[in-house]
Amino acid sequence: MKAVVLGSGAWGTALAMALCDNGHDVTLWSHRPETTAILEQRRENPKLEGVRLPDTMKFSSDMACVADADLVVSAPPSFAVRETAEKAAPWLRPDAVVVSVSKGIERDTGLRMSQIIRESIGDKCKVAVLSGPSHAEEVSRRLPTGCVAASPDEAVACFVQDAFMSDYFRIYTSPDVVGVELAAALKNVVALSCGICDGMGYQDNTKALLMTRAMAEIARLGVKLGGDRQTFGGLAGMGDLIVTCTSMHSRNRRAGILIGQGRTAREAMGEVGAVVEGYYAAESVEQLSRKVEVEMPICHCVYETLYHGKQVQDVVRELMTRARKGEIENAWSYPVK
Ligand SMILES: NC(=O)c1ccc[n+]([C@@H]2O[C@H](COP(=O)([O-])OP(=O)(O)OC[C@H]3O[C@@H](n4cnc5c(N)ncnc54)[C@H](O)[C@@H]3O)[C@@H](O)[C@H]2O)c1
Repeated sequence: MKAVVLGSGAWGTALAMALCDNGHDVTLWSHRPETTAILEQRRENPKLEGVRLPDTMKFSSDMACVADADLVVSAPPSFAVRETAEKAAPWLRPDAVVVSVSKGIERDTGLRMSQIIRESIGDKCKVAVLSGPSHAEEVSRRLPTGCVAASPDEAVACFVQDAFMSDYFRIYTSPDVVGVELAAALKNVVALSCGICDGMGYQDNTKALLMTRAMAEIARLGVKLGGDRQTFGGLAGMGDLIVTCTSMHSRNRRAGILIGQGRTAREAMGEVGAVVEGYYAAESVEQLSRKVEVEMPICHCVYETLYHGKQVQDVVRELMTRARKGEIENAWSYPVK
């Protein structure tokens, strides 16, 4: 099968490698010709140091490479998904499958990545999503990893599963695109908050509290928007939350640590030096949760810290002194068995 990966960041490159390993004919597209030249010459991506790219991998910065692709993987940072999909649209074969792997929610529109792609390419192509606990650094080193391929069309989810699945990359299928994409975008906001905790010197209890209650609010939003509650306990939900909130590979967590130590959000992003998706997602989630009237106290506090410079100590006090609650919403109204 012919596959094109749009976006040669760490994740696009790792996925292109996984597709090459499965014997597919793979082209990795970069939006800048200089990047294509570097990848071709060095056969290494500076974002994945020490990892040699397969000899079979091709490189291009010409969108015409999409014209004969059966599978197109959309892997730019979330802010560039619309622009990239619009560029690809005229070249896409109507029977191609487009897989979105970027994690975020579009500012102002509140759209998920697959919705942006659908808007940009119109009716042609099936659009699926691939997500889960998967650091590019580990997938590119072929360390055992699991993800979820989501599409309302089972045949499309299975097509994506077949394309990527190998002895080190295990892919499950799911019909719940909404849940998978929302969980993916929101966990980056939570990773920032866990990093802030680390930076402030809080320890395991605090992070477990934060992650668990954050997942409760993510699921609340997800279910309200049509997601399946079970997805939030799965690989794309709790799985991805755990990996992002506990690993130093996570730029969101690293940015959070710097903020917890006293840097401003801008300073922290500059120091991390790569896309910190949680920063953008925090604003989009704030807009979305207000719009659909879902209470998200943790995400709201991260937003206040990042965008209005609220002091992290004040945020912690505010969260810890909220009104008393039962852990499970409406649990006391369940019939007694
Ligand atoms: N890194 C991971 O482990 C990982 C895992 C799963 C999902 N993701 C998601 O994948 C997406 C990409 O992340 P990444 O880690 O590969 O990013 P990255 O920071 O490694 O690279 C971003 C790439 O985007 C390119 N880019 C910048 N502006 C662009 C534009 N206007 N058009 C097209 N490309 C542009 C840059 O050249 C750069 O190569 C993000 O949404 C991220 O959340 C990443």
